[in-house]
Amino acid sequence: MQLPTPPEDAARLPRHLAIVMDGNGRWAERRHRPRSFGHREGQKALRATVEFCLRRGIGSLTLFAFSSENWKRPAGEVGALMQLFLKALDNEVEELHGHGVRIEFIGDLAAFSPELRERMEKAMQRTAGNRALNANVAVNYGGAWDIARAARLAAQAAQQGQIDAGSIDEHSLAPYFCLAAQPPVDLFLRTGGEQRISNFLLWQIAYAELVFIDTLWPDVDAGVLQGALDEFARRERRFGMTSAQVAASA
Ligand code: IPE
Ligand code: IPE
Ligand code: MG
Repeated sequence: MQLPTPPEDAARLPRHLAIVMDGNGRWAERRHRPRSFGHREGQKALRATVEFCLRRGIGSLTLFAFSSENWKRPAGEVGALMQLFLKALDNEVEELHGHGVRIEFIGDLAAFSPELRERMEKAMQRTAGNRALNANVAVNYGGAWDIARAARLAAQAAQQGQIDAGSIDEHSLAPYFCLAAQPPVDLFLRTGGEQRISNFLLWQIAYAELVFIDTLWPDVDAGVLQGALDEFARRERRFGMTSAQVAASA
Protein backbone atom coordinates (compact mmCIF):
# COMPACT_ATOMS: atom_id res chain seq x y z
CA MET A 1 0.00 0.00 0.00
CA GLN A 2 1.14 3.55 -0.72
CA LEU A 3 1.12 6.35 1.81
CA PRO A 4 -1.98 8.55 1.94
CA THR A 5 -1.74 11.91 0.17
CA PRO A 6 -4.12 14.77 1.00
CA PRO A 7 -7.17 15.21 -1.26
CA GLU A 8 -6.93 18.04 -3.84
CA ASP A 9 -10.48 19.22 -3.37
CA ALA A 10 -11.85 18.05 -0.06
CA ALA A 11 -15.21 19.75 -0.62
CA ARG A 12 -15.98 17.54 -3.63
CA LEU A 13 -14.77 14.38 -1.93
CA PRO A 14 -17.23 12.13 -0.12
CA ARG A 15 -16.53 11.94 3.59
CA HIS A 16 -18.39 8.65 3.71
CA LEU A 17 -18.47 6.16 0.85
CA ALA A 18 -20.81 3.16 1.03
CA ILE A 19 -20.48 0.31 -1.46
CA VAL A 20 -22.70 -2.61 -2.43
CA MET A 21 -19.99 -4.96 -3.68
CA ASP A 22 -22.12 -6.83 -6.21
CA GLY A 23 -21.30 -9.05 -9.16
CA ASN A 24 -18.92 -11.67 -7.78
CA GLY A 25 -21.12 -14.58 -8.81
CA ARG A 26 -21.59 -13.40 -12.38
CA TRP A 27 -17.87 -12.64 -12.69
CA ALA A 28 -17.10 -16.27 -11.84
CA GLU A 29 -19.94 -17.75 -13.92
CA ARG A 30 -18.66 -15.91 -17.00
CA ARG A 31 -15.40 -17.77 -16.50
CA HIS A 32 -17.18 -21.10 -15.92
CA ARG A 33 -15.93 -21.16 -12.35
CA PRO A 34 -17.89 -21.67 -9.11
CA ARG A 35 -19.45 -18.54 -7.62
CA SER A 36 -17.16 -18.84 -4.59
CA PHE A 37 -14.22 -18.16 -6.94
CA GLY A 38 -15.77 -14.76 -7.62
CA HIS A 39 -16.07 -14.03 -3.90
CA ARG A 40 -12.40 -14.88 -3.43
CA GLU A 41 -11.40 -12.69 -6.34
CA GLY A 42 -13.52 -9.90 -4.91
CA GLN A 43 -11.10 -9.60 -2.01
CA LYS A 44 -8.53 -8.02 -4.32
CA ALA A 45 -11.00 -5.28 -5.18
CA LEU A 46 -11.62 -4.85 -1.47
CA ARG A 47 -7.93 -4.30 -0.78
CA ALA A 48 -7.68 -1.86 -3.68
CA THR A 49 -10.69 0.03 -2.30
CA VAL A 50 -9.24 0.38 1.19
CA GLU A 51 -5.95 1.55 -0.30
CA PHE A 52 -7.79 4.05 -2.50
CA CYS A 53 -9.73 5.49 0.45
CA LEU A 54 -6.55 5.83 2.51
CA ARG A 55 -4.77 7.56 -0.35
CA ARG A 56 -7.65 9.91 -1.14
CA GLY A 57 -8.36 10.76 2.49
CA ILE A 58 -11.92 9.42 2.57
CA GLY A 59 -12.64 9.04 6.27
CA SER A 60 -15.38 6.41 6.27
CA LEU A 61 -15.96 3.42 4.03
CA THR A 62 -18.91 1.09 4.57
CA LEU A 63 -18.97 -2.18 2.66
CA PHE A 64 -21.92 -4.52 2.20
CA ALA A 65 -20.34 -7.95 2.59
CA PHE A 66 -23.32 -10.14 3.54
CA SER A 67 -26.96 -9.11 3.73
CA SER A 68 -29.59 -10.47 6.09
CA GLU A 69 -31.15 -11.98 2.95
CA ASN A 70 -27.98 -13.73 1.76
CA TRP A 71 -28.64 -16.67 4.13
CA LYS A 72 -31.16 -17.77 1.49
CA ARG A 73 -28.33 -18.74 -0.87
CA PRO A 74 -27.29 -22.38 -1.32
CA ALA A 75 -25.61 -23.74 1.82
CA GLY A 76 -22.38 -24.35 -0.09
CA GLU A 77 -22.08 -20.71 -1.12
CA VAL A 78 -22.92 -19.43 2.37
CA GLY A 79 -20.35 -21.83 3.83
CA ALA A 80 -17.68 -20.66 1.37
CA LEU A 81 -18.40 -17.04 2.29
CA MET A 82 -18.07 -17.80 6.01
CA GLN A 83 -14.72 -19.54 5.37
CA LEU A 84 -13.58 -16.53 3.39
CA PHE A 85 -14.55 -14.16 6.22
CA LEU A 86 -12.61 -16.29 8.71
CA LYS A 87 -9.54 -16.34 6.50
CA ALA A 88 -9.71 -12.61 5.81
CA LEU A 89 -9.95 -11.89 9.53
CA ASP A 90 -6.88 -14.05 10.14
CA ASN A 91 -4.84 -12.63 7.27
CA GLU A 92 -5.77 -9.00 6.79
CA VAL A 93 -6.38 -7.40 10.18
CA GLU A 94 -2.74 -6.81 11.13
CA GLU A 95 -1.94 -5.08 7.85
CA LEU A 96 -5.05 -2.91 8.11
CA HIS A 97 -4.09 -2.08 11.69
CA GLY A 98 -0.64 -1.09 10.47
CA HIS A 99 -2.26 1.40 8.10
CA GLY A 100 -4.35 2.96 10.84
CA VAL A 101 -7.64 1.42 9.73
CA ARG A 102 -10.37 1.09 12.32
CA ILE A 103 -12.57 -1.93 11.58
CA GLU A 104 -16.18 -2.04 12.67
CA PHE A 105 -18.69 -4.77 11.91
CA ILE A 106 -22.32 -3.74 11.71
CA GLY A 107 -25.25 -6.12 11.59
CA ASP A 108 -26.74 -8.82 13.76
CA LEU A 109 -23.54 -10.65 14.66
CA ALA A 110 -25.37 -13.14 16.91
CA ALA A 111 -26.16 -15.28 13.85
CA PHE A 112 -22.49 -16.10 13.20
CA SER A 113 -20.46 -18.99 14.61
CA PRO A 114 -18.68 -18.34 17.92
CA GLU A 115 -15.26 -18.48 16.24
CA LEU A 116 -16.24 -15.93 13.62
CA ARG A 117 -17.80 -13.67 16.22
CA GLU A 118 -14.73 -13.87 18.40
CA ARG A 119 -12.49 -12.88 15.51
CA MET A 120 -14.77 -10.00 14.57
CA GLU A 121 -14.78 -8.73 18.18
CA LYS A 122 -10.99 -9.08 18.35
CA ALA A 123 -10.50 -7.15 15.09
CA MET A 124 -12.74 -4.35 16.38
CA GLN A 125 -10.89 -4.17 19.71
CA ARG A 126 -7.46 -4.34 18.08
CA THR A 127 -8.16 -1.45 15.72
CA ALA A 128 -10.44 0.65 17.95
CA GLY A 129 -7.86 3.40 18.43
CA ASN A 130 -7.09 3.90 14.72
CA ARG A 131 -8.03 7.10 12.92
CA ALA A 132 -6.80 6.97 9.29
CA LEU A 133 -9.94 5.27 7.95
CA ASN A 134 -13.14 3.87 9.43
CA ALA A 135 -13.77 0.65 7.52
CA ASN A 136 -17.24 -0.58 8.38
CA VAL A 137 -18.21 -4.02 7.20
CA ALA A 138 -21.91 -4.84 7.06
CA VAL A 139 -22.52 -8.53 7.75
CA ASN A 140 -25.93 -10.08 8.36
CA TYR A 141 -26.97 -6.48 8.00
CA GLY A 142 -30.29 -5.08 6.82
CA GLY A 143 -31.35 -1.45 6.76
CA ALA A 144 -34.77 -2.46 8.07
CA TRP A 145 -33.09 -4.33 10.95
CA ASP A 146 -31.08 -1.19 11.77
CA ILE A 147 -34.24 0.94 11.92
CA ALA A 148 -36.04 -1.60 14.13
CA ARG A 149 -33.00 -1.79 16.40
CA ALA A 150 -32.83 1.99 16.74
CA ALA A 151 -36.52 2.06 17.64
CA ARG A 152 -36.01 -0.69 20.22
CA LEU A 153 -33.01 1.06 21.81
CA ALA A 154 -34.91 4.35 21.96
CA ALA A 155 -37.93 2.61 23.50
CA GLN A 156 -35.67 1.06 26.16
CA ALA A 157 -34.10 4.46 26.90
CA ALA A 158 -37.58 5.93 27.27
CA GLN A 159 -38.61 3.11 29.58
CA GLN A 160 -35.61 3.84 31.78
CA GLY A 161 -36.51 7.52 31.85
CA GLN A 162 -33.44 8.63 29.89
CA ILE A 163 -35.46 10.22 27.08
CA ASP A 164 -39.04 11.36 26.69
CA ALA A 165 -40.88 8.98 24.34
CA GLY A 166 -43.35 11.69 23.29
CA SER A 167 -40.64 13.98 21.97
CA ILE A 168 -38.62 11.47 19.91
CA ASP A 169 -37.82 13.05 16.56
CA GLU A 170 -35.24 12.40 13.83
CA HIS A 171 -32.53 14.16 15.84
CA SER A 172 -33.03 12.25 19.08
CA LEU A 173 -33.43 8.93 17.21
CA ALA A 174 -30.23 9.40 15.17
CA PRO A 175 -27.75 8.28 17.87
CA TYR A 176 -29.34 4.82 18.04
CA PHE A 177 -28.44 3.88 14.46
CA CYS A 178 -25.37 1.96 13.38
CA LEU A 179 -22.52 4.32 12.38
CA ALA A 180 -24.12 7.26 14.24
CA ALA A 181 -20.65 8.54 15.17
CA GLN A 182 -19.64 8.82 11.50
CA PRO A 183 -20.82 11.33 8.89
CA PRO A 184 -23.90 10.39 6.87
CA VAL A 185 -23.19 8.62 3.59
CA ASP A 186 -22.28 11.09 0.83
CA LEU A 187 -21.77 8.59 -1.97
CA PHE A 188 -23.61 5.28 -2.33
CA LEU A 189 -22.00 3.13 -5.00
CA ARG A 190 -23.33 -0.15 -6.32
CA THR A 191 -21.35 -2.27 -8.73
CA GLY A 192 -22.74 -5.10 -10.86
CA GLY A 193 -25.43 -3.22 -12.78
CA GLU A 194 -28.46 -3.59 -10.51
CA GLN A 195 -30.15 -0.35 -9.50
CA ARG A 196 -31.50 -1.13 -6.07
CA ILE A 197 -30.57 -0.73 -2.41
CA SER A 198 -31.17 -4.42 -1.43
CA ASN A 199 -31.83 -3.47 2.22
CA PHE A 200 -28.38 -1.89 2.74
CA LEU A 201 -28.14 1.37 4.68
CA LEU A 202 -31.50 3.17 4.58
CA TRP A 203 -31.54 5.89 7.24
CA GLN A 204 -27.87 6.75 6.63
CA ILE A 205 -28.30 7.31 2.86
CA ALA A 206 -31.17 9.81 3.20
CA TYR A 207 -29.24 12.41 1.19
CA ALA A 208 -26.52 10.31 -0.42
CA GLU A 209 -25.72 10.60 -4.11
CA LEU A 210 -26.51 7.23 -5.71
CA VAL A 211 -24.11 5.91 -8.34
CA PHE A 212 -24.75 2.60 -10.11
CA ILE A 213 -22.09 1.12 -12.36
CA ASP A 214 -22.03 -2.02 -14.50
CA THR A 215 -18.51 -3.08 -13.51
CA LEU A 216 -18.60 -6.38 -11.62
CA TRP A 217 -17.04 -6.11 -8.16
CA PRO A 218 -13.89 -8.22 -8.86
CA ASP A 219 -13.06 -5.86 -11.76
CA VAL A 220 -13.10 -2.77 -9.53
CA ASP A 221 -9.79 -0.92 -9.20
CA ALA A 222 -8.61 2.60 -8.40
CA GLY A 223 -9.59 3.84 -11.88
CA VAL A 224 -13.17 2.63 -11.49
CA LEU A 225 -13.41 4.17 -8.02
CA GLN A 226 -11.99 7.45 -9.31
CA GLY A 227 -14.69 7.39 -11.99
CA ALA A 228 -17.34 7.17 -9.26
CA LEU A 229 -15.71 10.07 -7.38
CA ASP A 230 -15.65 12.13 -10.58
CA GLU A 231 -19.37 11.46 -11.04
CA PHE A 232 -19.97 12.48 -7.41
CA ALA A 233 -18.01 15.70 -7.93
CA ARG A 234 -20.20 16.58 -10.95
CA ARG A 235 -23.42 16.32 -8.94
CA GLU A 236 -25.00 19.42 -7.45
CA ARG A 237 -26.08 18.59 -3.92
CA ARG A 238 -28.89 20.95 -3.07
CA PHE A 239 -30.28 19.50 0.16
CA GLY A 240 -33.66 21.02 -0.60
CA MET A 241 -32.36 24.46 -1.57
CA THR A 242 -32.34 26.10 -4.98
CA SER A 243 -29.36 26.04 -7.29
CA ALA A 244 -28.87 29.79 -6.75
CA GLN A 245 -28.80 29.33 -2.99
CA VAL A 246 -26.22 26.56 -3.32
CA ALA A 247 -24.05 28.76 -5.55
CA ALA A 248 -24.31 31.65 -3.07
CA SER A 249 -23.27 29.51 -0.13
CA ALA A 250 -20.26 27.97 -1.93
C1 IPE B 1 -22.06 -9.92 -4.11
O1 IPE B 1 -21.93 -10.63 -5.30
C2 IPE B 1 -21.46 -10.63 -2.95
C3 IPE B 1 -22.42 -11.15 -1.96
C4 IPE B 1 -23.71 -10.98 -2.02
C5 IPE B 1 -21.89 -11.88 -0.84
P1 IPE B 1 -23.04 -11.67 -5.76
O2 IPE B 1 -22.70 -13.01 -5.20
O3 IPE B 1 -24.40 -11.18 -5.42
O4 IPE B 1 -22.83 -11.67 -7.31
P2 IPE B 1 -23.94 -11.74 -8.43
O5 IPE B 1 -24.85 -10.55 -8.21
O6 IPE B 1 -24.67 -13.03 -8.26
O7 IPE B 1 -23.18 -11.66 -9.70
C1 IPE C 1 -26.53 -7.22 -2.00
O1 IPE C 1 -26.33 -7.98 -3.14
C2 IPE C 1 -25.74 -7.79 -0.86
C3 IPE C 1 -24.29 -7.70 -0.96
C4 IPE C 1 -23.61 -7.19 -1.94
C5 IPE C 1 -23.57 -8.21 0.18
P1 IPE C 1 -27.32 -9.15 -3.57
O2 IPE C 1 -26.75 -9.72 -4.79
O3 IPE C 1 -27.57 -10.06 -2.43
O4 IPE C 1 -28.66 -8.34 -3.87
P2 IPE C 1 -29.92 -8.77 -4.74
O5 IPE C 1 -30.30 -10.14 -4.32
O6 IPE C 1 -29.50 -8.71 -6.16
O7 IPE C 1 -30.94 -7.73 -4.42
MG1 MG D 1 -25.70 -10.03 -6.42
